[in-house]
Order: sequence, then C-alpha cells, then structure tokens
Amino acid sequence: MERTLAIDTVKKVGQEVRLLGWVHTKRDHGKIVFVDLRDRSGIVQVVGGQDLVGLRPEDVVELTGNVIKRPDNLINPKIPTGEVELKASRVQVLSKSSDLPFPIETDGLEIEEALRLKYRYLDLRRERMQRNIRVRSKVVRRMREFLMERDFVEIETPILSKATPEGARDFLVPSRLQKGKFYALPQSPQQYKQLLMVAGMERYFQIARCFRDEDARADRAYGEFTQLDMEMSFVTQDEILSLVEELFLEITESVLNKKVFKKPFPRFTYGRALEQFGDDKFDLREEKDPDVLAFAWVVDFPLFEQTSGRNVAPMHHPFTAPREEDISLLDTDIFQVRSLQHDLICNGFEVGGGSVRITDPELQAKIFEILGHTRAEVERKFGHLLRAFQYGVPPHGGIAPGIDRFLMAAFGEPSVREVMAFPTSTSGQTAVMDAPSEVEEDQLKVLGIQVGKK
Ligand code: AMO
Repeated sequence: MERTLAIDTVKKVGQEVRLLGWVHTKRDHGKIVFVDLRDRSGIVQVVGGQDLVGLRPEDVVELTGNVIKRPDNLINPKIPTGEVELKASRVQVLSKSSDLPFPIETDGLEIEEALRLKYRYLDLRRERMQRNIRVRSKVVRRMREFLMERDFVEIETPILSKATPEGARDFLVPSRLQKGKFYALPQSPQQYKQLLMVAGMERYFQIARCFRDEDARADRAYGEFTQLDMEMSFVTQDEILSLVEELFLEITESVLNKKVFKKPFPRFTYGRALEQFGDDKFDLREEKDPDVLAFAWVVDFPLFEQTSGRNVAPMHHPFTAPREEDISLLDTDIFQVRSLQHDLICNGFEVGGGSVRITDPELQAKIFEILGHTRAEVERKFGHLLRAFQYGVPPHGGIAPGIDRFLMAAFGEPSVREVMAFPTSTSGQTAVMDAPSEVEEDQLKVLGIQVGKK
C-alpha cells in the first residue's frame, strides 16, 4: 500500500492507509492507547490497544489502519488533522529510539547550546527548527527564481582560493603539490564575481558559502555562513537598490507572509543614521511587531575609516568606488571621501552590504596605496584583478544579503545559528562532527607540515 502523509489523512476518512514516521507522544489509558505520529507533514493521532503499548517516543514506525472521523467533542482545533484519527490495525516498529538527551517538544532555547549542537539531528526534529529550515529552503528557492526570471546566471566560484579581503582572518588549506603554500577559503566571492563581469556574464548570482575566522556573535556565525551574492554590469546604485528591494518585498510578503513596515524602503545617509539613531543599524519599528519587517537602506558611507593606531581601513572593502564628486578629496582629505556603498537594514540588523565598484585600474591602485599596500604587495595580492581591468571592464556593482542573518531577523530568532542546519558553536566546534580534530602524522607529513607545541 502506498504511503499516506499525516496531513493527507483528513482527505481519506473511511479509507485504509499506511503511515510512516516517528512516535511523537504516547498516552496510555489502560485499554486504549493514543499515539501522536509525526512525519514531515505534521502530526496525526492514532488510537489502538495492546499493539501500541510497547511504542516509545521517537521510535520509527509503520502504522496501518482506517482513518475515522473523531466525535465532535474530541476534535482538536489546534492541529490540521484534529478532526480525524487513525484506528491502528497493524503496528510495526522499524527502528527503536533510546531516551533522548533533551526534550524536543519545547522551542529548545532553554537547553544548553553545546548539547543541542552535539545532537543537532535530534534538535532539528523540534517544530521550530523544522519550520526554520523548511522556510529557509523556500526563501532560497524564491531568490533563485526571482533572479533567473530576470536573466541572472547562477555560477559557482572556487572554494579553494586566494585571500580576498573582507576584514576577517582567513582559513588556510595547505597544498600537498606545492609544499609550504596555502589556499585561502573565500571570505566572499567578491573578486571572482567582479572577474565574471569582465567575462561578460553581466548578471551573476550565487548562493555562496563564505568563510571567515572571526569571533561569533548572535548575528554572526563563526566559520561559515551563506550569502545571496549578486553582481550586475551597466547599473547605477539606484538600479541595484530597486532590484534588491523588489526581491525582499516579494520574499517578505509572499514567502514569509509578513508585512513590510514602509515602502519604498526609506533611505538614510550614513551621517543621518548616526545622527538619528547613533548607529548605522537601527530598527524603525516603534512596537516590535514580529510580523513586520522594517527595511531601510543606508548610503553615503565614508570610503575609509581610521583603525587603531594610525591605520586606514576601507569601510566596506577596497573595491568599493568613491563618489565621483569626492574623488579629488583622495589627495587632500581621505576621511571626507564618501563611497557608493549601500547597506540593507532589517529590524535593527545589517542584512546586506554591497557597492558600486572601482573599474579604473589606476584608481584601484591608488586606493590600495592609500590603504598602505606596497606596489609589490598589490601585484602579489591583486595583480590579477588590475590586469583583468585592462581588457574592457563594464561598470558594475552588486550586493550580498546574508541569508542566515536575514532569516534570523525575519524570524526574530536570538541567533543566526537558529536558522542554520549544522552551525558551528561560538567556540568553533562544528555541530555533531566535532571538528577541528587532530590528524594522522602521515597526513601532516605529505603536506610538509610540522605542528609546534600546543
Ligand atoms: P559583507 O562583508 O558586508 O560584504 O557581507 C555581506 C553580508 O553578509 C552577512 N554576513 C554574515 N552573516 C553571518 N555570519 C557572518 N559572520 C557574516 N558576515 C557577513 C551579513 C552582511 O551584511 N563581498 C561583499 C558584498 C559586496 O560588496 O557585494 C561582502 O561580503 O548579512
């Protein structure tokens, strides 16, 4: 007999069906036993006798029986299958479950995170996590569709790569074939997407994994996270903002079924944001209604910021273009130069950042120089990009909304880890698999690596 999902039992009253799933709960009333069966579609109540007595929560079972209508006084309006139940005639245990290390019928936030991550495959069974991961998939699907409908090409860029500066520490991978040399995992696909514009792709996107060795925060995953990385040729900043705005309106209203606080998204200059909110991230909602997403754009950032010591750092990254009318200030007062950076804000979080890029190789070289790179360093680190810009580079720009951070903000979750299937802990341990770990002496030997004292 074909499998029936829990949710479909409501359409099969009077029929015999076969259900497969997990024992969610069991209530033993002596002669009569109730089991809630859970599968990917939800929960349905099962009634039976002695056959059900031996079942334990989280056993995987196959249950066959007739779907019957519940008497009016026993209807449960809280679940979609509350009007029916399965009268079990055959019960088969496919796999037994041990006692779980923690409850899964709660929202889970009361449980120590390290324990949740050790048993993430159980933690993900809870309703809240199922919803987060499933809705995440729908959001990503709609992002893909939206961009493909508008002529964007999805392109994968290398993970084994060379450092691209986004302000964090790199993860390095030792090369076996060239001992003593290292790949860097990309902090973002920034340089590849710009090279793809030189390559004539014009409209690129990627659901891109980014790797950054920086301390975790509630809104910052340690190690890796995912961006909707995009880049377009022959566009103005306005056109980038409009397209991204349309995308997030659609995601918010048609996928998340939430309201947008203000349309079009209000725009703030960096200066005004600081004046009004004391921060470049702010929440426009007065009442923190979880069903309302308040988006805003921040533009006109300074191109540079002063870091500790007397060092100059890019506010965004070194590829961001200065505003045309401020270029002359590069020779006189670099901290007055405004850029074509744009940040997307949602409910108090920076959920995306991007810019119009520099395409003039001389201007790009000058920016690197201001940032304190020597000529030799520029050639070694960025020579490939400057070379590419000598072969007909279209004006281009883009943005990369962070998928984890946007969903955290949109769901009102306390951390990005609540919307990731297998996040790394704040201390850098991976979920379940518990990396990093030591490796065999032999593996180090072929890589030409000696580990010093720990
Ligand atoms: P940026 O570094 O501003 O820009 O990152 C863009 C967006 O990525 C998300 N994000 C993170 N999410 C979770 N955990 C992290 N550790 C983390 N770091 C960043 C945020 C952020 O707004 N290449 C440029 C984009 C561009 O210029 O087009 C870039 O990566 O939501």
